[in-house]
Parts: sequence; C-alpha cells; structure tokens
Amino acid sequence: MLHKVAVITSGGDSPGMNAAIRAIVKAANYHDIEVYGVEGGYQGLIEDKLSIIRTPDVETIANKGGTILKTSRSLAFMDESGRKQAVEVLRNYGIADVIVIGGEGSLQGAQKLHELGIRVIGIPGTIDNDLDYTDYSIGFDTTLNTVLSSIGRIKDTGLSHNKTTIVEVMGRHCGDLALFTAVAGEGDIISTPEYKLSFEQICEKLQDKISKGRNDNIIVVTERMYDLDELQKFIEEQMNIEVRTTVLGFIQRGGEPSAFDRILANKMGVKAVNMLMEGQSGYAIGIKANQLIEKDLLTMLDEKTDKQANYDLLDMLLHTI
Ligand code: F6P
Repeated sequence: MLHKVAVITSGGDSPGMNAAIRAIVKAANYHDIEVYGVEGGYQGLIEDKLSIIRTPDVETIANKGGTILKTSRSLAFMDESGRKQAVEVLRNYGIADVIVIGGEGSLQGAQKLHELGIRVIGIPGTIDNDLDYTDYSIGFDTTLNTVLSSIGRIKDTGLSHNKTTIVEVMGRHCGDLALFTAVAGEGDIISTPEYKLSFEQICEKLQDKISKGRNDNIIVVTERMYDLDELQKFIEEQMNIEVRTTVLGFIQRGGEPSAFDRILANKMGVKAVNMLMEGQSGYAIGIKANQLIEKDLLTMLDEKTDKQANYDLLDMLLHTI
C-alpha cells in the first residue's frame, strides 16, 4: 500500500514542471497518499530538504514557469556515496516511492535510485526535447513558442533593415528547437547538431536566398556548435553584408507554460502516481502518437528517433521562398 511519495525536479527547469507537481499532489492526496516535496533536486535529497506539500499549496502554480521545488545539477548524486545518502534520507522518512521530473541526466539518476531499491517513476521535463523515447518532453512546446515569438520580433527589425541575423537557441546536443522553429516558419537557414552546416555551406545557402531577393534572413543555430563571433565575421567578410547575432539564452527556459505542456504535465503526473500505486518502478513515462507510454529507464536512451522526415519537410520549405 502506497502511503508516501517524494517528488523531485532536477536538472534544468522547464515550463510545466509546476503543473506536473500540482497533478501529482492532487492525484496522491485524492488517494490519501502524502506527498513530500524535495527542495533543490537530488542535492536537496542528499541534504534532507523534504517537506510535506498538500493540495492547497499547489492550487495556483500550474500557470507558473520554473519549479516551486527548485532544482539543481547535483555532482554529489553522481557518486555512489551521495546516492546511498539520498536513499538513507528517504528511508528515514519512511518513503519508498519517488517521482523524478527532469531530463536525461535526471532520469538516469532515477534509474540509479531504482537500482538501490527505491520505487521510481520518471517524467520527462526538459526544454531540449532530447529524449528520443518520447515525442515530447514537458516544456518543449512552451519554449518553442517563446523562440518563435522572439524570432518574430527579430524578423520585424531584420526586414526593416534588410539585415541577416544569426539566432542561437538552446537544445544542448539536440536540434529539435531549431528544427521545429524553422518548420513553424521563422527560420531561413538552420544548422543543428544532427545536420551541422560549415561556415561555407551557410554562406552558400545565404547567397541562394539573397539571389532570390531575400535579404532579411534568419540563421537559426543550436547552441554550443560555433563560435558565433567567428561565424558572424566570416559571413560578413565572405558576403559583404552586415550581420547581427542574438543569443536568446534563458528567456527560453522561463515563462508561462503552454496549454499543451500543462495538459501533458497533468496526464503524466497522474499516471506516475497510478503506476506507483500499482507497484511499478523503473519506468519513464513518455508520449508517442498521442498515447502515454511506459519506457524502461534502463533502456530509454537506446531509442533513437529518425528525424529525417522532419528535415526533409524543412528542406522543401526552406527552398521555396
Ligand atoms: O537542458 C536545458 C538547458 O536549458 C539546455 O538547453 C542548456 O544547454 C542548459 O540547460 C543550460 O544549463 P545551465 O542552466 O546549467 O546553464
């Protein structure tokens, strides 16, 4: 019988984490299960920062970005000794069930807790959408919309000045944010870790656009791929045009979660509680073809989505100006 569950948000926060926390608390309290919020991710768990959260505490959080539980990237939890300490803390509270909301590293951490005998369910919460076992992670849709509206503003001024702008978006090693941005209509040239363009290839594509009469081009690139100063200088010198660079940065990670992310968060939060009530452990929840799925935490990273169809679609869209 499940009486207590701890909830952890870990890694980079993502819009919709709060909606997931709210859904978990509501579903758990409905079944008379007590929820302990862990403050500050795995680090907070090691440091015994647990407190009970109840339905009234979460009534007005679903529309807020970030995470009320706070988060961290814990180095101590990467060590066996840190993880054992975390398990001891849980045992002291009589907690044997945990829900972890986070990205790749956080869900790998969840697997480690599972291996140490804690029942764990993971919920994907990351703006990067870099977990291939699931079509979407909580936060990606909101961030995508934030990026689109930012780029819309950049386009206004780019068009007025006939100027090319390089826009760097987040995503870590995953190009989904850049790719989906361009498909949704706000990018002219994109370069992602999956399809990285050289400086020369970017210039070739730019030349093609300019020869067809487009002078206000937006080059969307995923973070960590280039030295942007070098890229800007290279384009300016090669093409004899003025270029500007905008790094969108952390505005992408904050903000009110979209309806899509809130609904996804609610579905996943409730499912996580139900799974623990059934005694399940060691799974990450995902969504494929609009259906919630359960994926083994141990093998979740083995799955690789074929993104070729999306890139083909983009190719067609970008060539037709
Ligand atoms: O994983 C989410 C993310 O926002 C990435 O897109 C980005 O590379 C990273 O986190 C930034 O992390 P930090 O907040 O530690 O600088």
